[in-house]
Amino acid sequence: MRKLMKLATVAAAGMLSLSLYTTNAAAKYEFTNYSGSGLSSQTVQCLQCHQKATPFVVNDWKRSKHFYNGVGCYECHKSDATNPAAYEHYGFTISTLVTPKQCSTCHPKVAKEYMDSIHAHSGLISQEAEAKAGGNFSVIVLKMLGWSKNKIIPHQNSYGQSTWQDIVNDPCWPYAGVPANLRTPRPTAAAVIKIFANWGCYSCHGTKVSIVKKLPDKVVFDLRTWPMTGAGTINPDGSLGNCAACHPFHSFRLKIVRVGRGACGRCHESEDHPNYEMFGKSMHGAAFLSQCNEWNMDAPAIKAGVDYFAPTCATCHMGAVYKGDKMIYAPTHNPAAICKWKLGMWKLIFVRKAGKPHPALPSVKYPTDGIKNRERAFAMCTQCHTKQWAANCLIGGDLTMGVLDYIRKMAFQVERDLEKAGLHTPLDRKIVRDIGAMAVRPTEIAMFHYAPGYIWWDGIYKVAFEFVEWLETSVAPRLGVDYASKYVSWIKSYEEKVKRYRRRHHIED
Ligand code: HEC
Ligand code: HEC
Ligand code: HEC
Ligand code: HEC
Ligand code: HEC
Ligand code: HEC
Ligand code: HEC
Ligand code: HEC
Repeated sequence: MRKLMKLATVAAAGMLSLSLYTTNAAAKYEFTNYSGSGLSSQTVQCLQCHQKATPFVVNDWKRSKHFYNGVGCYECHKSDATNPAAYEHYGFTISTLVTPKQCSTCHPKVAKEYMDSIHAHSGLISQEAEAKAGGNFSVIVLKMLGWSKNKIIPHQNSYGQSTWQDIVNDPCWPYAGVPANLRTPRPTAAAVIKIFANWGCYSCHGTKVSIVKKLPDKVVFDLRTWPMTGAGTINPDGSLGNCAACHPFHSFRLKIVRVGRGACGRCHESEDHPNYEMFGKSMHGAAFLSQCNEWNMDAPAIKAGVDYFAPTCATCHMGAVYKGDKMIYAPTHNPAAICKWKLGMWKLIFVRKAGKPHPALPSVKYPTDGIKNRERAFAMCTQCHTKQWAANCLIGGDLTMGVLDYIRKMAFQVERDLEKAGLHTPLDRKIVRDIGAMAVRPTEIAMFHYAPGYIWWDGIYKVAFEFVEWLETSVAPRLGVDYASKYVSWIKSYEEKVKRYRRRHHIED
């Protein structure tokens, strides 16, 4: 009933706004007389300029429920002097960033769930990891190349010509937030590599947005920290996260977050956590991607078997769960609400406990309990499948976790022994990271996303193969075959076979 009334209100608001302009798509976006439209007088002033200044933004917003509910530019962008990112803009105090703090004024429940989730903390968690790695993720690459932190790399091409003037004289240069250590023709490699780290790692995890220049009517952000919409962005107003990480502004359409590959797949992809690729190669992906355009993906709290007929990231992880006509779980902004295990860390795995401190940043606590989460997952699957079907899948995954962790633990032990012997190199680190982060972790994730290739060839096969290849070809020559065969018995007998063969054929070392 409540839902129906809500829909009726939206429809009425829609008709009201539609009566202000024709439904013809082209004509629609030419509409510029907003008086009497239910928008605030401030927003009407924004629109008078922005219809020309940023027509894309205005037209996208006109497709949103915000528009139909009188939520305009000013309602989201307004700010005050307590926000370091606020500035004066034609008589209004605004902020370009619209943080979860601002959205929470109208969406308090959603914002709280998100702020309590690990997503919102992923910026802080990676800042902590970066501090431990030496204050700059670029050290990962510097160490590999054997470069010092202060190595200078001039802007120069292969013919020795300087490209610096062509950067400084570029028409974009005056608008860019270039930090002091990059305003030089001879920057350090560390400073440049930080651009990769930020637009890579932090674009997903969340940057600490920093301001390089503040004028009364303008705020210029460091180009290494904005505009990236990471899940755990650390905002100048003190809030964490960015709602636009999943809801690209300004239409804020639910279809964008629900249609699998889009919103979540941007970050949950590539070698270390290929959820997006797995989904595309699963039966769920096949059923979903071929039909989703026929489904009702924009309505609130959509129902399996009524609005949609195959799951996506968003519906499984965050969507409402029904039993018959009754909603037994409301949509949630904690995407781990169906996760029993913590699968995403490359060094370890554990079953979640509510209140348990995050291993990488103990001030962050897990909001929900793994076993309770599994109840939600089971209820989610059994909207479409039988109990046996779902239980076989989930328990099948659980049973594989031990062996994956066992192999990973051996890899860490070997690495520690190389360190003790003083023989550890950056390449060992890469290989161990590859085993932990690019083989064990994705295989654990694959066990719950049902993509056969990622479970076998890119899964357990790759885990075993990478470990054994490293032991045989790289560890045994250094720590000896006796050591290596403690882990893999055939290495020693194979070495003896090789020796016998070489003796028999008089092959010298
Ligand atoms: C007098 C005209 C005018 C008014 C009124 C106006 N703007 Fe703008 N605004 C502009 C122009 C021009 C730009 C620059 C666009 C560009 O860089 O392409 C801009 C830029 C912005 C930016 C981006 C700033 C940046 O540094 O990237 C935001 C956000 C913004 N306006 C929001 C608003 C809001 C909200 C209102 C109403 C409270 C408003 N504007 C009112 C003309 C106006
Ligand atoms: C529901 C809240 C909301 C409303 C309504 C809204 N914005 Fe935004 N706007 C955002 C968010 C979120 C961002 C992204 C900020 C960031 O990068 O963190 C943004 C970014 C922008 C930017 C920079 C975008 C770019 O691509 O350069 C401009 C300009 C802007 N808004 C203007 C407007 C104008 C004009 C209106 C009214 C037509 C408007 N906004 C309405 C939330 C809103
Ligand atoms: C001034 C109040 C207000 C602010 C600020 C606000 N919203 Fe909303 N939002 C609303 C209203 C009202 C609706 C329509 C609710 C409905 O239809 O039930 C809505 C709906 C939505 C929806 C659902 C859209 C759909 O198509 O169903 C999303 C997503 C959303 N808001 C995200 C945001 C985000 C993200 C921010 C901050 C960047 C934000 N909102 C800021 C009032 C606000
Ligand atoms: C991890 C991605 C993600 C982030 C981050 C995110 N959302 Fe959402 N949001 C979703 C998904 C997915 C849905 C649809 C859930 C469903 O299927 O019903 C949704 C639905 C909504 C809705 C409409 C339904 C409801 O539950 O009321 C609103 C409003 C909303 N989001 C606002 C926000 C705001 C505000 C923020 C930031 C505080 C935010 N979202 C951050 C993914 C996200
Ligand atoms: C902007 C990048 C980004 C987007 C978009 C994104 N995520 Fe994440 N997600 C992350 C990062 C980074 C982490 C790792 C957080 C950590 O452990 O530090 C994460 C963690 C998670 C976790 C584990 C959280 C926990 O409690 O341990 C789940 C589940 C998840 N995401 C699901 C989703 C789903 C579903 C969507 C889409 C609706 C989504 N994510 C969209 C970046 C993103
Ligand atoms: C494409 C987006 C993306 C990029 C780029 C990325 N990550 Fe992640 N990272 C994620 C996601 C998503 C997860 C969570 C995986 C999961 O929970 O399944 C994650 C997990 C992690 C974790 C484990 C989370 C925890 O709770 O401790 C660490 C540490 C981490 N990433 C560090 C990094 C570093 C360092 C870089 C750059 C060198 C990086 N990431 C680059 C998306 C990304
Ligand atoms: C059929 C439902 C379903 C779909 C579709 C689905 N997932 Fe999952 N996902 C799960 C379940 C169930 C788990 C947790 C298993 C456990 O721990 O018990 C999980 C685990 C995860 C995790 C691990 C979180 C952690 O660190 O513990 C991430 C991240 C994730 N999924 C992201 C995604 C993304 C991104 C997509 C879309 C590309 C997606 N999932 C599609 C059901 C689904
Ligand atoms: C919205 C409905 C829906 C939900 C929710 C759902 N599935 Fe499915 N699932 C399907 C459809 C449709 C198929 C493909 C057709 C079929 O095999 O029935 C499928 C297929 C599968 C398959 C593929 C079997 C094969 O032949 O390879 C597995 C495994 C599976 N689902 C497990 C799960 C698990 C586990 C969950 C919960 C975490 C879940 N599903 C949630 C609809 C759903």
